[in-house]
Amino acid sequence: MNKKAIAIAISILLLAVVYPCLAQTGGRQKRPLPYEYGRVVIDNYSEQAGLAPVVFEHWIHRTKFTCRVCHLDLGFAMKAGETGITASDNAGGYYCGTCHDGKRVFAEGKTAFQACSKVVTEEDRKRCDRCHSWGKEVKSDFDFFAFAALLPRGRLGNGIDWMAAEELGLVKPASSLDGVFGPFAPYGLPEPPADFALHPPVTGLPNIIFSHEKHAAWNGCALCHLDIFTGRARELIQYTTVENFHARLCGVCHTNVAFPRADCQRCHSEPAQF
Ligand code: HEC
Ligand code: HEC
Ligand code: HEC
Ligand code: HEC
Ligand code: HEC
Ligand code: HEC
Repeated sequence: MNKKAIAIAISILLLAVVYPCLAQTGGRQKRPLPYEYGRVVIDNYSEQAGLAPVVFEHWIHRTKFTCRVCHLDLGFAMKAGETGITASDNAGGYYCGTCHDGKRVFAEGKTAFQACSKVVTEEDRKRCDRCHSWGKEVKSDFDFFAFAALLPRGRLGNGIDWMAAEELGLVKPASSLDGVFGPFAPYGLPEPPADFALHPPVTGLPNIIFSHEKHAAWNGCALCHLDIFTGRARELIQYTTVENFHARLCGVCHTNVAFPRADCQRCHSEPAQF
């Protein structure tokens, strides 16, 4: 084998075998099971108030809404616990309470159950438990495995290829919520720039193909610009460190919710040039 072939073999081995075993979320934590991936446990106030912490599942919600509806229009932070949601926010129709108000009817003709309220009857308690459920046996209306069985498989994360599921029309996440911010982008999205390749500064490592079009389907534009990416000429970004891409930039989403960093080849997908 010549040097090039060895370099290719090593980089493929690293990408395909070694790294996924070492890291799902970057550290040595236990890899979450497919139905746990994207789960957020929120407990700034609940336990203090004598209630179980709240469990929020991304897999249930992302089948119904795009990321931007919640993280842009409704203002949820992209870090667990950071929004500081309170019971009165929810009761006043903000955050979870925007949808979980006991009135809003969704696509399937169902009404989402109501979030927090001050007055609590015995009947209400069951409802409280649906969200304040951490550490409890609470019956769910949603069966992860039955749902995932209908969708294209992914390697890591939820074990679902969400991108393909959306493209095939098997999930149709709404990009706006009636009465909240009006229809999203009434004049259409700005034209996304064409796909481009990012070249990691390491010989033999496959380039990263970044698709604006595919990202816009879930994220619109403003979820990334200007908060995460400035949109300056992309030549500039090669001066940042890999830690920035893996953890701080692409990793904002590709750590806990979109497919994780350990799925190296999904980003480093273009064969290396020598
Ligand atoms: C129905 C609303 C909703 C949708 C849709 C949604 N999220 Fe979230 N997301 C939340 C909430 C709520 C939190 C927790 C915020 C908090 O704890 O303050 C969260 C947290 C996160 C976090 C931080 C997770 C952690 O463990 O720190 C990331 C990353 C994230 N979301 C990305 C996404 C991406 C990417 C999408 C689209 C694929 C998406 N979200 C869709 C509501 C949503
Ligand atoms: C953009 C609208 C929206 C927001 C915001 C939202 N949800 Fe939901 N959520 C839904 C819909 C729609 C369903 C499905 C309801 C149904 O079919 O019964 C759902 C389902 C759920 C379920 C599933 C219950 C079960 O049977 O397993 C839980 C728990 C839940 N949401 C918690 C939350 C929490 C906690 C928040 C805030 C941190 C939140 N949701 C924010 C729309 C939303
Ligand atoms: C749709 C999901 C949802 C449901 C249903 C729900 N809550 Fe909450 N609740 C939350 C979230 C999210 C928080 C913030 C959690 C945290 O940071 O501890 C919260 C926090 C609270 C708090 C903490 C103290 C405070 O003032 O913020 C109380 C008390 C509370 N809820 C009461 C209730 C009661 C009572 C019910 C049932 C009638 C209920 N909640 C049902 C989502 C829900
Ligand atoms: C998932 C994150 C993400 C989303 C969503 C996103 N972009 Fe970008 N955008 C990037 C990255 C990464 C770059 C390159 C780095 C930089 O310039 O900051 C970029 C660069 C750009 C550039 C400069 C292109 C160049 O060749 O220098 C434009 C223009 C742009 N984006 C427009 C858009 C538009 C319009 C949308 C919505 C249709 C959008 N972006 C959605 C991440 C995103
Ligand atoms: C705002 C959140 C967000 C950011 C930031 C982000 N992505 Fe994504 N990306 C997603 C979501 C959501 C998907 C859909 C697939 C999924 O959820 O697993 C996706 C899908 C992808 C795919 C799969 C495309 C395909 O053809 O199937 C690639 C590759 C990718 N992202 C690369 C990147 C790279 C590289 C960056 C940084 C330059 C980045 N992403 C930043 C949210 C994000
Ligand atoms: C979400 C997309 C994504 C995933 C998944 C991903 N990378 Fe990267 N990686 C990038 C981006 C973007 C860069 C920076 C490219 C640039 O500098 O232009 C990068 C750069 C690198 C570099 C260059 C290092 C340096 O010193 O600058 C290495 C090595 C690397 N990645 C290895 C990996 C390995 C191994 C995995 C799997 C554990 C992985 N990557 C997973 C997007 C990703």
